[in-house]
Amino acid sequence: MAKRKSWLACCFIFAGLLCAVALACLYIVWFVDRGCPSRSFKHAAVSADSQTCSEIGRNILKQGGSAVDGAIAALLCTSVVNPQSMGIGGGSIITIKNATGEVRVYNFRETVPKMFKLDLLKDCPTSFSLCKGSHWIGVPGELRGYGLIHHHYGKLPWAKLFEPTIKLARDGIPMPDFLIKLLNNPIVKKHVENSSLCEVFCNNKTTVLGKGDVLRFPKLAETMETIAKEGPDVFYTGKIGQALIQDVKAAGGTLEAEDLKSFRVNISEAWTVDLGNAKMYIPPPPAGGAILGFIVGLMKEYFLTPNSKHGDKKMQMYHHYIEAVKFANGQKRRINDPFYNRNEHADHLIQSSFIKRISKEISSNHTNENSYYKRPFTDSIGTTHVSVLDENGLAVSATSTINHLFGGGIYSPQTGIILNNELSDFCGRADTLRAGEQPPSSMTPAILETDSGGILMIGGSGGSMITSAVALSIINHLWLGMDLEKAIAAPIVFVDSQNKVNFELGFDKSVIDGLKALGHQVGQWPYFFNVVNAVEKENDCIVAVSDKRKQGMSAGY
Ligand SMILES: *[C@@H]1O[C@H](CO)[C@@H](O)[C@H](O)[C@H]1NC(C)=O
Ligand SMILES: *[C@@H]1O[C@H](CO)[C@@H](O)[C@H](O)[C@H]1NC(C)=O
Ligand SMILES: *[C@@H]1O[C@H](CO)[C@@H](O)[C@H](O)[C@H]1NC(C)=O
Ligand SMILES: *[C@@H]1O[C@H](CO)[C@@H](O)[C@H](O)[C@H]1NC(C)=O
Ligand SMILES: *[C@@H]1O[C@H](CO)[C@@H](O)[C@H](O)[C@H]1NC(C)=O
Repeated sequence: MAKRKSWLACCFIFAGLLCAVALACLYIVWFVDRGCPSRSFKHAAVSADSQTCSEIGRNILKQGGSAVDGAIAALLCTSVVNPQSMGIGGGSIITIKNATGEVRVYNFRETVPKMFKLDLLKDCPTSFSLCKGSHWIGVPGELRGYGLIHHHYGKLPWAKLFEPTIKLARDGIPMPDFLIKLLNNPIVKKHVENSSLCEVFCNNKTTVLGKGDVLRFPKLAETMETIAKEGPDVFYTGKIGQALIQDVKAAGGTLEAEDLKSFRVNISEAWTVDLGNAKMYIPPPPAGGAILGFIVGLMKEYFLTPNSKHGDKKMQMYHHYIEAVKFANGQKRRINDPFYNRNEHADHLIQSSFIKRISKEISSNHTNENSYYKRPFTDSIGTTHVSVLDENGLAVSATSTINHLFGGGIYSPQTGIILNNELSDFCGRADTLRAGEQPPSSMTPAILETDSGGILMIGGSGGSMITSAVALSIINHLWLGMDLEKAIAAPIVFVDSQNKVNFELGFDKSVIDGLKALGHQVGQWPYFFNVVNAVEKENDCIVAVSDKRKQGMSAGY
């Protein structure tokens, strides 16, 4: 009897194996048929900064959620897994292409509160540094924005989008490796240990958490539970908002209940740039889309091909690129809130007449003094990006931030919310600020439609480095023939606010030498926090890439 049983078991196992092999074959045949690259998805995908949040977004899609539901869930999750980058105390700019093909930009970036420090810009650092303190806090727009895009495009109940993150926040997560690395940076360590953030990120309120520790957000879990139940109003006109204002006031800030109450999301048409073999949709100012559009639009003038990534042609390409960015840097002050700056706008940046004119000012054999490229600005870092595509073709490209790492270091103990320091984005890029105004941004959540019928949702984080990282990824992929993963992984060159060129580790040595010979000055930029997350659908294959620089991983099905 026993023998017979084990023989039967063998039979089952064998049959099971046969089935598995047959299924695997079918799967391979299916993909080879369509010429899909390996690791691509058939239906939908999410690229967030972390595997945890990509998977939470994917699970929401699988449960019938739309790409907007997936993006909101992935962003909420990111506020716990990468709490230094974004959260409900911040703001976002989100580009959405709906099934009819219309592309809208939802801008719910922070605004200047009614009362603010009148001489705030005098406090701006003169060189790159983290801006600490409650005087930099802008009115958080995050939840108003989620509420509106969910109202327009949501399919699952609002509360459902919060469930997975509430659980993470309450149960805690093993300290993420990326966060450990950040907290070990002496500047960041000091910033956290000497601020109210220590309540969450320190052991015994003294030293920052490390490997083996559990990161918990008990207060934030409670807050999110309330918001999940009652909706965004509880933040903007209810008890969560009241508690937040109390905490901000206790920290010396000027945020008022009236600021929260009057926050409005701005919806606008996306701007478009013709890239030859693709059409790129970008968010208008105060987002950084015009700068991205200008750089990539200018690079179109050089008719790059896969050949351009070899030998002397490669050096030439990077030289032209760096020159383009130097001109873009000179135009950064044109990026502002158009409502408050009627006389100085950025519309020309993506006009082909302007782009062609500038391309004539770029020489192939030398670079110029900074004054050649117009006015300076200062650098910054931070932020996150999520790209999502769902089964119905709804496409979301979402960039979200609390500005610098951990914002201005202001934690609200009653709500568990970390507040942004978005007002420091005016530093070096504006001479005044007004109540209600949105600070200029580098964020540029983009959507590209390729001539071959493909769609690409792409965006990045890393403050000033966003534009370089996203522009080079697009150039690498669209024109140099690199697959999406390689296009994003390729080391970048970052042209800083002093127009010095800074090379990421692994950048081609011979190209660096060639560029030095053309007169480019090499800088010492130490913070390569550039991260690009993208989803692309081409020929019915969906490829999703989360940047390895932040140890990201995409998810889909
Ligand atoms: C797409 O967006 C446009 C503009 O907002 C709207 O008029 C249209 O109804 C939308 N289509 C779908 C299918 O959602
Ligand atoms: C900690 O922060 C306070 C003000 O918030 C400042 O006066 C003090 O110098 C800081 N200490 C250190 C070690 O940075
Ligand atoms: C934290 O405090 C607890 C008890 O108060 C103590 O057992 C533990 O050793 C402390 N940990 C550190 C890292 O100081
Ligand atoms: C959005 O902002 C732009 C620029 O300030 C403005 O022209 C437009 O009217 C705003 N739209 C809405 C819906 O508020
Ligand atoms: C660069 O090229 C221009 C002509 O295209 C020439 O006039 C100039 O002398 C060259 N400069 C250098 C440094 O080679």
